[in-house]
Parts: sequence; structure tokens; C-alpha cells
Amino acid sequence: MDANRAVDMAVPFAGLTFQNPVAVASGTFGFGREYGQYFDLGRLGAVCVKGLTLRPRAGNPPPRVAETPMGMLNSVGLQNPGAEAFLRDELPFLRGFDTLVVANVSGDTVEEYAALAGLLSDGGVDMLEVNISCPNVKAGGLLFGTDPRSAAAVTEAVKRRARVPVMVKLTPNVTDIAEMARAVESAGADALSLINTLVGMRIDVHTRRPVLYRGTGGLSGPAIRPVAVRCVYQAARAVRLPIMGMGGIACAEDAVEFLLAGAHTVAVGTALFRDETAPLSILEGLTSYCQENGISDIRTLTGALLE
Ligand SMILES: Cc1cc2nc3c(=O)[nH]c(=O)nc-3n(C[C@H](O)[C@H](O)[C@H](O)COP(=O)(O)O)c2cc1C
Repeated sequence: MDANRAVDMAVPFAGLTFQNPVAVASGTFGFGREYGQYFDLGRLGAVCVKGLTLRPRAGNPPPRVAETPMGMLNSVGLQNPGAEAFLRDELPFLRGFDTLVVANVSGDTVEEYAALAGLLSDGGVDMLEVNISCPNVKAGGLLFGTDPRSAAAVTEAVKRRARVPVMVKLTPNVTDIAEMARAVESAGADALSLINTLVGMRIDVHTRRPVLYRGTGGLSGPAIRPVAVRCVYQAARAVRLPIMGMGGIACAEDAVEFLLAGAHTVAVGTALFRDETAPLSILEGLTSYCQENGISDIRTLTGALLE
């Protein structure tokens, strides 16, 4: 195939069309303003915004991040201005770019998730990403994501109120990811995103105290990529929902692994902290990979793992 021939990078996803499969992961891109200085956000398939709650949250006290081999720990604790302030102050900025806006939501109760779904879908976001997998908050979060019945209850409540597609974000901190995927599919989810961070801990050997204020945090970055690829693979075999895969993606080949495992789109997170233009190099690398391998439509890579 001609190395310069155009590759169709558009991906249908839960009733929407991603202009290309590369998104940015929630909590690592803020609301896009800082990154807007470095590149045109309209080149992204989607922006998953910082996790939103009904009321503003100050987040956890510092230290909230720590380095680890090939990754990082964070316990930011969902610091955000609240959903109403997001709609008023941030969404109009993001709407200035030709990209999908995905609102990531967290609640302490099922009712809070439902209220957020109503507020944000009426407010004009393109998709909801229901975070039932945050390891860094006391109530809600991971509690909903580790029990199939609770995960289904949140999904059903959100679906009743949402007027846009609902993507549920799963945690790898479970014994059986396929069971969780099936539970939220049966409850009406339109898509899955996975994975959120793995619970981890570091200890300062001089003070004998945890490095992070809250003790534990969420591990992200290349260290978790094989776990993430395995989760996407197992979820893709268990359900028919489209999947946004993430966890340690730092280059195009990493993204291809997720697509082959069964993801339809990918999100770049921690890699942004080393290189704020990483999503663009990954997108360009994906296009080159397709050209070099005679692939004219990126969609043909999804689930194309040979076994
Ligand atoms: C600093 C930081 C903040 C995060 N905040 C959120 C969040 O608010 N909501 C959410 O669903 N995931 C959050 N995540 C998880 C990421 O979206 C992503 O699922 C995870 O980090 C794995 O991808 P990565 O290894 O490419 O970062 C956060 C991750 C980091 C590193």
C-alpha cells in the first residue's frame, strides 16, 4: 500500500462519531485550557474532562502525587469546581474546538450520580463517563465499582436521567473484570472505559510514614499497561459494548495493543505529564502504522488479535 495513502481514522462509538480514536483521560487534562497553549484541541477524538461532582471539592491535602518506577501514584481526591461551574465556565471554551466533550462524573450516592447525569446532559456535553472506580475518595467511587449490583444500580440510575450516551469507567481492582462489564452492560451502559488506576502505596523509609497524605493512591502510567490490556481483552470478550482503553499508553504501538485487544478508542493520561503533545504523536504514529501495514480503516484493528 502507498505509504501516503489516506487512512480512515473515524470511529463510531456509542452512537457518536470520534473523528479519530485518540482521546485524553479524565483528570490528566484538566478542562483543556493549559493544553490549548500547546496544540489545537480540535485534533483530539475526545476530551474526557476532570472528574466532576455536584458540589465543588477541594480534593485531598498534599502530598497528592508520588513517582514510582514507570508510573506515578496520585490521590488528588476529585478536586473540581462542581458541575454547574463546569457548564458555566469551562464547557463554552471546550465547545470552541471540533472535538467531543465527555463529562466524567462521581457521586457519593446513586442519587448524586443520577442528578449529575441530568444536569450535564441537559447542559450540552456529548457523553457521560461514569467514574465508579476512583480509589481516592472516602465515599462512593471504588465502592460502586467493585460490586456488580452497585455498579448496575448506578448505571441504571444514570441511564434514566441521561440524554446522551453513557460510558461506565471500570476499575482493575476486582477479581473478575468480565463480571463487572456484564453487570453494567445488562444495566444499559452504552460503552465501557477501562482502566482506572490500581490502588498502590509508597512508604518513606526515613519518616516511616506513607508518602501520600491519604496513605494509598492510584497507580498509573506504563507500569499498569499490561494489566490494562488484559482487562480490555477480557471485557471485550465478555460484552458487545464499545470500549475506550487506557492505562500507560505512551506511544502509537501501545495504542495498537489496546485496539488489538478489543478497544475501539484509546485515552492518553499520565504520558501527558512528560509530553503535553503525546496524543498528537500517538495519532500520527497510528496513522503511519496503518499505512505501513496496508490498513485503510483503523476500525479493522479492533479485536484483530490473532490467537
Ligand atoms: C492525576 C490523575 C488524576 C485522575 N483523575 C481522574 C478522575 O478525576 N476521574 C477518572 O475517572 N479517572 C481519573 N484518573 C485516571 C485516568 O483517567 C486513567 O484512567 C488512568 O490514569 C490510567 O491511564 P494512564 O496510565 O494513561 O494515566 C486520574 C489519573 C491521574 C494520573
